[in-house]
Amino acid sequence: MAMTPGRSPETRATAVLLAALSLLAGCAVAPADDRQRALNSWLQLGPGGDSSLRAIVGAGADCPTAIIDQAVRPMTPRAEPSKAQPLAGAGGNRAFNPEFDVRSCELAVPSAARDASIDGRAIPLPRGEIKRIVVVGDTGCRIKVPAGGKGDPIQDCASPAAWPWPRIAAAAARARPDLVIHVGDYHYREYCDDPRLCPPLREQGVVVGYDWAGWNADFFTPAAPLLSAAPWVFVRGNHENCDRGGEGWMRFLSPLPYQACGNQTYKSATRSVLGNNFTAAAYRIDLDRKLGLIVADNSGHEDYRPARETPRDVELFRQTLAALREAPATQRLWFLSHRPVWYDLLDPASQPNALQAALRNGLPANVQVAFAGHQHAFETINFSPDADRAFHPAGRPAQVIVGGGGTQLESLDPHSPFYEGEGGTGSTERARPDGRLYDGVAAATGLVLNRYSFLLLERDAEGWGGTVLDPDGLPITRCRLSGGSKELACTFPGH
Ligand SMILES: [Fe+2]
Repeated sequence: MAMTPGRSPETRATAVLLAALSLLAGCAVAPADDRQRALNSWLQLGPGGDSSLRAIVGAGADCPTAIIDQAVRPMTPRAEPSKAQPLAGAGGNRAFNPEFDVRSCELAVPSAARDASIDGRAIPLPRGEIKRIVVVGDTGCRIKVPAGGKGDPIQDCASPAAWPWPRIAAAAARARPDLVIHVGDYHYREYCDDPRLCPPLREQGVVVGYDWAGWNADFFTPAAPLLSAAPWVFVRGNHENCDRGGEGWMRFLSPLPYQACGNQTYKSATRSVLGNNFTAAAYRIDLDRKLGLIVADNSGHEDYRPARETPRDVELFRQTLAALREAPATQRLWFLSHRPVWYDLLDPASQPNALQAALRNGLPANVQVAFAGHQHAFETINFSPDADRAFHPAGRPAQVIVGGGGTQLESLDPHSPFYEGEGGTGSTERARPDGRLYDGVAAATGLVLNRYSFLLLERDAEGWGGTVLDPDGLPITRCRLSGGSKELACTFPGH
């Protein structure tokens, strides 16, 4: 790790003193030098009712000074700038120690805080009753092209139609949320090695890499309006595994103290799995006494393998999901994870996988909905209350997948069951379940939409109204989550 360049303790003390004097004089506290200004700042909700104020500054800048309820509070470095390390032999993974020419900073914010600012800019804190929640997921621009050219289809990051995450983030900010939930997969710009396919991308200025430039292009720059609109809940996706974009996850977004990701090789014997991926224990965020969020990290889970092949993962889930069992039975819970518990990309032979096995007789009756991403579409899967009496006697929660946030849709991927190919636009969308079994049980209701989209949930007297919105914020369809029911009922568009 590089040392903090050129900033003496005296300089920091002077900055804090100036902040205090400006505050006394009633001035907005903004640094005179633009190079000192935070590149990004946001508030994220975390374990134990704590909020964490985060900021990113240039490598030559100090962590900013925050003002919390008129008190001067210097932020502390979370991760220092670092230079890229050369690949360590044939087994080296370029996701290990890429260049981060920025410093990330953090500060714990008490739950009772009423206002906060950095550089004179207000930071949105949780305010009163949370009534409007935006859910987004799977947002980055897909670039993963090995030297042989046989990678995923290349997404056109410069096209607002082909990669609409910047539009979605702006539209979601205009929806004036009280809270934003991102269900994971922020970083998709992994590498481009093909000598024929990649030079044109570079000529267009397309940024690719696990480094700060890649993270900034894929997430922080387009997300800026939404980061400043409301507090966030960050769920970790498999693209943030240590063998992929994990170093950026640990520097900027993880709820854990920063640690550098190790040199894990992608898709090999030392790949990221639950046990070596800095997997955080699930934690609860109380929106109020009646509703809590359980934020789980299942990004390292090999969910395409049956539980009998991954017995260690079953045990790890039983340990890391303890928060599910610790909530009061009177509080409804929404379970947030990146990989869904039940979804269409899992073939029958892989089920039950370790997560499904751990949740058999392990999901309390008060878990109402499981939100996830991972599958790049919008999908709801609702089960009859008595559909799985053996393992979920109080009924399975609804499974809601919000994965159309900008990365290439399943319907554009020839390897996906939702691929539309010659069938044309919408041909694999569904207004109702198709009879397939999800860990042995068919769904009663639910739909699939192959559309770039995000979900707005609005609290009302009956429960929650939902609207699936397109990248410009126009409604695609409406949904409802009534009272304590375990069904997100959505109307198929046009019906
Ligand atoms: Fe994804």
